[in-house]
Amino acid sequence: MGFVITIDGPAASGKSSVSRELSKKLNIPWVSTGSFYRGLGYAAIESKINLQDPIALSELCHSKSWKIEMTPEKTLVWFNEKNVTDLIAQEQVGSVASQISHYPEVRQSLLDHQRNCATDRNGLIAEGRDCGTVVFPHAEVKIYLTARSDSRAQRRAQELGADQQVTADLQKQRDTQDSTRKTAPLSIPHDALVIDTTELSLEGVVQKVLEFTNGKI
Ligand code: DC
Repeated sequence: MGFVITIDGPAASGKSSVSRELSKKLNIPWVSTGSFYRGLGYAAIESKINLQDPIALSELCHSKSWKIEMTPEKTLVWFNEKNVTDLIAQEQVGSVASQISHYPEVRQSLLDHQRNCATDRNGLIAEGRDCGTVVFPHAEVKIYLTARSDSRAQRRAQELGADQQVTADLQKQRDTQDSTRKTAPLSIPHDALVIDTTELSLEGVVQKVLEFTNGKI
């Protein structure tokens, strides 16, 4: 399977930016597992599938109408051959993703697809909510990123050109949902390095991860 690094944490804690930089520095591919939930949510809406029907949703997990593609810059999502990556970045799609992610059937159906991202001998950097606890419990390196909620909302609102208060409210709701659900809730893996990114630059966070990784790779 190769060397696996997991990066978990709440919404907009910097998981993708850190994964992208680490991926460049270590030459290991990376994937956003949130893209699977966002992609599924988007595909469900477009296909008019009831978001409260876990069986229909889990069937859609195996549909060829949508797919995930790992690239060095972003995890791309394709729906009916159209690149919908930018469309699913909106916080509203994040909320749908969070809503459907609490169904055990959905999580189970996406699990193999997520694990398959690591079959490459080059290893994988996987970021999300349960990467270190459920998807890759035996990962060599586990990181948990956190940051003050106001600075996370500010960061994401700026990125998306969205209203900061609306973003903050949606993120708060999403974090509560993600950390209180019964199946694979957002939690700190017991063997993870926890980094608060509020006062750190991207380079500073990456440096801490590299120091922690050093010697294990
Ligand atoms: O990382 P993100 O914001 O793209 O994730 C969107 C939602 O997907 C998140 O609020 C909950 C769900 N998710 C999950 O349940 N497990 C993961 N490993 C990743 C994301």
